[in-house]
Amino acid sequence: MTNNPTKNMQQLRVVIVGHVDHGKSTLIGRLLYDTNSLPDGKYEELQDICKRRGTDVLEWSFVLDAFQAERDQAITIDTTQIWFSTAMRDYVIIDAPGHREFLKNMVSGAAAADAAILVVDASEGVREQTKRHAYLLSLLGLRQIAVVINKMDIVNHDTEVFADVSRQVDEYLKSIGLSASFIIPISARNGDMIAGRGEKLGWYKGKSLIETLDAFDYEMPPLSRALRFPVQDVYRFGEERILVGRVETGMINKGDKILFSPTNEEAIVTAIKTWPEDPAKVQAGAGEVIGITLDERIFVERGHIGSHVKNPPMLSNVFRVNLFWLSSKPLKVGNSYKIRYGTSEAVVNVQSIDMAIDTDDLAQNEKAGELRKNAVGEVTFRAQDILPIDPYTDNQKMGRVVIYDGYDIAGGGSINMEGYPDQRHNVNPVSQNIYMVDSLLTDDKRAQSMGHQGGIFWFTGLSGAGKSTLAMAVEKTLFEKGYHTYVLDGDNVRHGLNADLGFSPDDRTENIRRVGEVAALMADAGLIVITAFISPYQEDRNRARKAAPQKFNEIYVSADLETCEERDPKGLYKKARAGEIAEFTGIDSPYEAPSNPEMVVDTQSNDVNTCVAQVMNYIESRVQLRHSMQTDQSMKEKKLAS
Ligand code: ADX
Repeated sequence: MTNNPTKNMQQLRVVIVGHVDHGKSTLIGRLLYDTNSLPDGKYEELQDICKRRGTDVLEWSFVLDAFQAERDQAITIDTTQIWFSTAMRDYVIIDAPGHREFLKNMVSGAAAADAAILVVDASEGVREQTKRHAYLLSLLGLRQIAVVINKMDIVNHDTEVFADVSRQVDEYLKSIGLSASFIIPISARNGDMIAGRGEKLGWYKGKSLIETLDAFDYEMPPLSRALRFPVQDVYRFGEERILVGRVETGMINKGDKILFSPTNEEAIVTAIKTWPEDPAKVQAGAGEVIGITLDERIFVERGHIGSHVKNPPMLSNVFRVNLFWLSSKPLKVGNSYKIRYGTSEAVVNVQSIDMAIDTDDLAQNEKAGELRKNAVGEVTFRAQDILPIDPYTDNQKMGRVVIYDGYDIAGGGSINMEGYPDQRHNVNPVSQNIYMVDSLLTDDKRAQSMGHQGGIFWFTGLSGAGKSTLAMAVEKTLFEKGYHTYVLDGDNVRHGLNADLGFSPDDRTENIRRVGEVAALMADAGLIVITAFISPYQEDRNRARKAAPQKFNEIYVSADLETCEERDPKGLYKKARAGEIAEFTGIDSPYEAPSNPEMVVDTQSNDVNTCVAQVMNYIESRVQLRHSMQTDQSMKEKKLAS
């Protein structure tokens, strides 16, 4: 036995999947036995059972049956944890009991796992269920996969069979973007290549299953080395407050400054606590369950995530999930679900179904109105609150999601933030010691002098929907009627004020933030401001509204993608389709249509004049002087008549 000082602090969580008859239970029984992890008396019990049932070979799967009986009494949990240990560390097998709900249980089990063992029967090869399970592993972002080709005894330990089945597995995994870390021939029944090597597989020179598991890591992808410490609980001992949780990825040190999300507050780690206590403990790594104390009493609760200041999770209330849908009730736009990711929970709404994928032939459908049972798709969710989010490409552990419909697991998948900005810089403004100065003029006085009120008429819509055309025509008409007005247009502003910004999600957000603030200032000065920006994110438009809540009007200039693409006034859609422009709205960057705009102008069914008239009507109704202001009627008439 190697003397490993960190043993017992780390736990690697393993999920075992594969076709139902391919020997999963036998493998679990054998793993426990071969690692001396069977509870006292279990082995004798097993011998008894086998004698009673008249089998001379030990049926290892009975071990699991015995566990099953125990967990039948604990019906509240949907996955069971079975422990075993090697010289290197402790393992938890997250088992998914029961065949009826197997896929659902697997989703929750695999969502929590560090690694997976995919069991394939040597005599049967890759089956439909093998594929489906592998697909789930891929959607859940699991990347440490050991494939065991089981029942090698049945195929006479034949190297050809092993090579053939290995090739099948490898090909399928590659087609869905996975690769097996190791492919191991085993006989679970005889214990070959589990912990010991056995006698019949001498031709295989690779690692045994246990050696393979020991070779697995907590941190596969480089970016996931970023610290993630999700807070499970906060214990209070008198004055002391200990934040308890498992370090999911990265390292935490005494003295580190930790940033908590989503609150965006910071504090320094004053101690790392373990049980039993170890005063010398100053560092903890991925897989360790620890407590920490902080130098400041900032607000932290279960579900908050600790990171270093430099590499925090994203903050967003919108995110996309590559999803496997399991519920017999289809997923539909507008539905609301509970999601669980890491130790956090949130209630989310389905904003859009961006793609449905057929698992058989991998065909894609962008127009699917719903996702049915066993379908795979890309779905955009919106939460009420800002959530700490890790895309699974950055952090494969935190980026996994389980979706619930009531108490039932309805689906699972991995988070994809492509096309969406980090909203962290919206949370806390940087400037400090700033005091507002009050103007000596009131809104009313300005409005009276102008002859109308100021306002913001915020056009949003796809490129080519007609925002600029409409904005310029409306501006001219307003001007000719004596109104004071000005258009802020995307293409124009991007030549000056926002010349430093491109079209990444973060740049678009900054574009809209600046324009929102400028529009608010201009409206405050009394102007009728018309803005023509795609402004693809609802959150950004909401923020622009917050800059001038009384004066803001969201106007959806509506035309569908096909229409805009047909018009293609600047030839940009063509370029985008040809791959010459990246991140083009509607093609490979999202557009979130307003859910509740003040006005919709349909430029698809109406000509420009009709649309101008509709918008004019609306604007004039909004900027009219209020009654109390109309005392100086003559002033207004004079202004508007001139
Ligand atoms: S926004 O998304 O940040 O609101 P904005 O309205 O300022 O965009 O600019 C959109 C205009 O920039 C489009 O009408 C188009 O002419 C041009 N453009 C250039 N590249 C892109 C792109 N990748 N996506 C969208 N529009 C683009």
